[in-house]
Amino acid sequence: MDVQEAIRSRRSIRQFRSEEVSKEHLSAVLEAVRWAPSWANTQCWQVVVVRDPERKSRLQEILGRNPAHDAMVQADVVLVLCAELGRAGFKRGEPTTAYGDWFMYDLGLANENLSLTAHSLGLGTVIVGNFDHAAVGRELGLPHSLVAVTMVPLGHPASTGTAPPRRELLQQVHLEEFGVPWSNPTTAC
Ligand SMILES: Cc1cc2nc3c(=O)[nH]c(=O)nc-3n(C[C@H](O)[C@H](O)[C@H](O)COP(=O)(O)O)c2cc1C
Repeated sequence: MDVQEAIRSRRSIRQFRSEEVSKEHLSAVLEAVRWAPSWANTQCWQVVVVRDPERKSRLQEILGRNPAHDAMVQADVVLVLCAELGRAGFKRGEPTTAYGDWFMYDLGLANENLSLTAHSLGLGTVIVGNFDHAAVGRELGLPHSLVAVTMVPLGHPASTGTAPPRRELLQQVHLEEFGVPWSNPTTAC
């Protein structure tokens, strides 16, 4: 599967079969995180691999009402992507831009690598971000320098959904200056 096809056909998967994720596939997915780009190559991510059914249930309880509720225990693995604070976007302990800590950005890139690689291997993922981050940090014994950012159930898909619609490029892309419509060269007459 090439990159463009992987990008277009990946979907958030919220229903999983009970089949195990092989060691090889799990390693490939973690390697994809490892090779993500990051601010000045600071690689501020840490990943906690959760397979213990009781721990997955506790994470599910923390998640509470969420469309990914079932996925937390159905998926063979839950990867919790954590970030070390004060690294991405910092130089000598000081933020270098108005945006402060860039950990969310770098974790997003790592998460996309993870999701696309999983998809290319026939596995499913859903990025879960709406939960009590401090409670998950306590459950996983994170030190104070780390925060849990996303939980990502990873497993064999039981079903794939249809793609939620995307805004048209014309609503997102501008030519030279903001507000000047860009015309798509592949569709322009
Ligand atoms: C940062 C982030 C947080 C998300 N949090 C959740 C979540 O808490 N629960 C959930 O079911 N999906 C969550 N999603 C998945 C989005 O709902 C999904 O990516 C979006 O609807 C587009 O669908 P697609 O992934 O199938 O293309 C999250 C996605 C991102 C990028």
